[in-house]
Amino acid sequence: MSNEKKYLTTASGAPVGDNQNSITAGHRGPTLIQDVHLLEKLAHFNRERIPERVVHAKGAGAHGYFKVTNDLSKYTKADFLSEVGKTTPMFIRFSTVAGELGSADTVRDPRGFAVKFYTEEGNYDLVGNNTPVFFIRDAIKFPDFIHTQKRNPKTHRKDVNAIWDFWSLSPESLHQITILHSDRGIPATLRHMNGYGSHTFKWVNANGESVFVKYHFKTVQGIKNLDVDLAAKLAGENADYHLEDLYNSIENGDYPEWKLSVQIMPEEDANTYRFDPFDVTKVWSQKDYPLIEVGRMVLDRNPENYFAEVEQAAFSPGHFVPGIEASPDKMLQGRLFAYSDAHRYRVGANHEALPINRAKTEVNNYQRDGAMRFDGNGGSSVNYEPNSFDGPKETPENNIKPFEVTGFADSVAYDSEDHYTQPGDLFRLMNADERTRLIQNFVDHMQDVEKDEIKLRQISHFYKADPELGTRIAEGLGLSVPETAK
Ligand code: HEM
Repeated sequence: MSNEKKYLTTASGAPVGDNQNSITAGHRGPTLIQDVHLLEKLAHFNRERIPERVVHAKGAGAHGYFKVTNDLSKYTKADFLSEVGKTTPMFIRFSTVAGELGSADTVRDPRGFAVKFYTEEGNYDLVGNNTPVFFIRDAIKFPDFIHTQKRNPKTHRKDVNAIWDFWSLSPESLHQITILHSDRGIPATLRHMNGYGSHTFKWVNANGESVFVKYHFKTVQGIKNLDVDLAAKLAGENADYHLEDLYNSIENGDYPEWKLSVQIMPEEDANTYRFDPFDVTKVWSQKDYPLIEVGRMVLDRNPENYFAEVEQAAFSPGHFVPGIEASPDKMLQGRLFAYSDAHRYRVGANHEALPINRAKTEVNNYQRDGAMRFDGNGGSSVNYEPNSFDGPKETPENNIKPFEVTGFADSVAYDSEDHYTQPGDLFRLMNADERTRLIQNFVDHMQDVEKDEIKLRQISHFYKADPELGTRIAEGLGLSVPETAK
């Protein structure tokens, strides 16, 4: 058989004689079970889908690189940040949160901003959003929160009652929902928005000294947002508007770029700062902790295959490298479990070995077997430890930095109940037009809530953030600010 032209084969490699006509008994059929090529085609097709991500299902991915522009090795021993000019390949996935795999891009929703750095010390994943804060601050509330963002169990439609019921009963969400209903709630494109690590992380240097950090990716393209009417029109006409824009801009050589900066908090300050610096519903003042440049991220290559590279990509906040560690943030701690657990369910026990997820470094451990173990499975090398057969050894210098913990184990609430200062400050920073659009967005979203009780509870929160905000939203909804809020 000629090798010059590719010929069609079955999955087991045998040449296929006919890919248009199934094997039938005689001219009219019926079809014979003997047509194993037909059986294979139909059976494989039935298995083409894996479960979509339970959140952030709709997304776009791109390859690129990260280049260090400022030496911060006095704060972290992370090798990929060790010297100016050091360049690390990376992959990013942008996403919306609440919609399904085929949902529209131009909805009001946070955008996921998940970055995988393929460093020489293994993969470092920074799984953030385009907002510096989050709706809740304890992982135990996450499944309930997401249920309110998804479909009503009876109507199978989005449920504005559930959304505002939950938010009004979880006032820690006020900061994030103020950002969400501002102009930034619908980015013009994925290229025109910032990204944030949101949580506080720990950096450790070569001397074992640590600081706390927050990450900020600032878009070099500038922030641009979509007008609500245009966004609604696009959601109907081109559900993949953001995917298309990102793909085309990279394809046309117009490579999007972000500057990465960090805020650095000395470890001691964490005990005395005016609020809990591990509370992900709050930002650190940039007057207290100014942005310090780290490097630039450039996206210069589209995926060759969406399923292989974007759908199977598995980002986990638990993918750290030496020099970068978790902070005590209760949300982050929950996420350290949730993601790899999701990947084992969604992609499988050996998801880390897939090309998009596989570290560029050698991966040496004693995990073996499992469904779809498609690499050499460790070959004949020793599969237990301790051993006398030269198996891979632990490296104590890569232990986490020991840290002290105190207190009674209990279900403990956060100390601060101040959910109002930061969203109020954000509102007061807005110019008159921005305030009017924010208020209109809130009114439009809340007006279909059936129970006044829910609307009034939420109006009280707005009022506590800023009397103008609360009063104008109440007016827009034809209600009055409850006396108890004043
Ligand atoms: C995706 C859980 C909070 C950003 C996911 C997924 C899960 C999850 C299970 C799907 C993973 C997959 O199937 O690949 C949680 C839990 C949270 C939480 C339990 C709170 C305890 C957050 C926060 C952020 C965030 C605070 C941002 C600061 C993302 C992003 C993705 C994602 C960007 C998509 C990753 C990708 O592109 O593959 N989350 N999440 N999540 N989450 Fe969270």
